[in-house]
Amino acid sequence: MHFQEGKHRDLESEIDMSKCYSFIGTGVMAEAIIAGLLRKGTVSNQQIIGSHPRAARREELSNKYGIRMVESNREAASSGSMIILCVKPQRTNKVLHELKGAVNRQQIVASIIAGTRIETIRRELDHPAIVRAMPNTPAQIGQGITAWTATAEVSEAEQDEVRAMLEALGKTVRVENERQIDMATALSATGPTYVFMVMEALIDAGVHLGFSRHVAQELVWEMMLGSVSFAKESRKHPAELRNMVTSPGGTSAEAIYQMEKGGLRTVLSKAVWAAFQKSEALGRNG
Ligand SMILES: NC(=O)c1ccc[n+]([C@@H]2O[C@H](COP(=O)([O-])OP(=O)(O)OC[C@H]3O[C@@H](n4cnc5c(N)ncnc54)[C@H](OP(=O)(O)O)[C@@H]3O)[C@@H](O)[C@H]2O)c1
Repeated sequence: MHFQEGKHRDLESEIDMSKCYSFIGTGVMAEAIIAGLLRKGTVSNQQIIGSHPRAARREELSNKYGIRMVESNREAASSGSMIILCVKPQRTNKVLHELKGAVNRQQIVASIIAGTRIETIRRELDHPAIVRAMPNTPAQIGQGITAWTATAEVSEAEQDEVRAMLEALGKTVRVENERQIDMATALSATGPTYVFMVMEALIDAGVHLGFSRHVAQELVWEMMLGSVSFAKESRKHPAELRNMVTSPGGTSAEAIYQMEKGGLRTVLSKAVWAAFQKSEALGRNG
């Protein structure tokens, strides 16, 4: 996407400046949200401001999207109706400390930082209207799923605005509390790791059979994409779909026997549970 200055200037008079998004830390995820917002037309480039410590990155984003980029996190935060915290977890304390006193009561603070609790943000910024969201990596191509929750001080109308902002990354699910954010961290945010590992194992298995890596990869990618689309469209239980292709004494029955013997379900369940416990533990320390 390239910024067309003239086109956006014409729109200036119609722009609702009471709706302005401030991105604190404009790395991969912030850029994915910005690109999605502009692609969908949720806001215009003039309603977005971002902060980044490096001049080269500031220049890159302002040239690419026509958004305002500043060095100071406080300056960026002061302009937005919604402040979106997108720094890495290890920078959280420093950034929250920097933003102390810069956030007013009318603003919403939304965080996509893994592990940082609402209570930490509330305490550090002395601010009640907070949203915590947990996206996943397919968000980078607008096909993510983001679980999010909000404090009671975020009104219904503001929640609609938050939902629209997060939809820049794909689908969204509003969950009840932070425990469910940790649950989503283990299931949907860590999820691509499980899928990539299964994908890798199947590609290697194809190479073991004698396929070239290129062919094995193509077969596995399309098989996975097609299986997910088929499951979604048919709305059938996965076991029913599996039974449909399991003939007595056939190849699927043979493969299922080996997967059950190897404990595939238990391994996946234990992996998700361990990721959940880790997410809770990181939150307690954060
Ligand atoms: N990526 C995902 O799929 C995903 C999924 C769920 C949650 N998250 C969460 O999203 C957050 C952002 O992830 P990301 O993948 O976008 O990381 P990222 O690409 O590293 O983005 C963070 C950006 O913040 C910049 N930065 C460093 N110090 C800063 C400071 N003091 N003030 C402002 N900006 C600063 C970094 O610059 P430098 O590169 O120069 O250090 C970097 O460009 C993380 O907290 C992560 O836990 C990410």
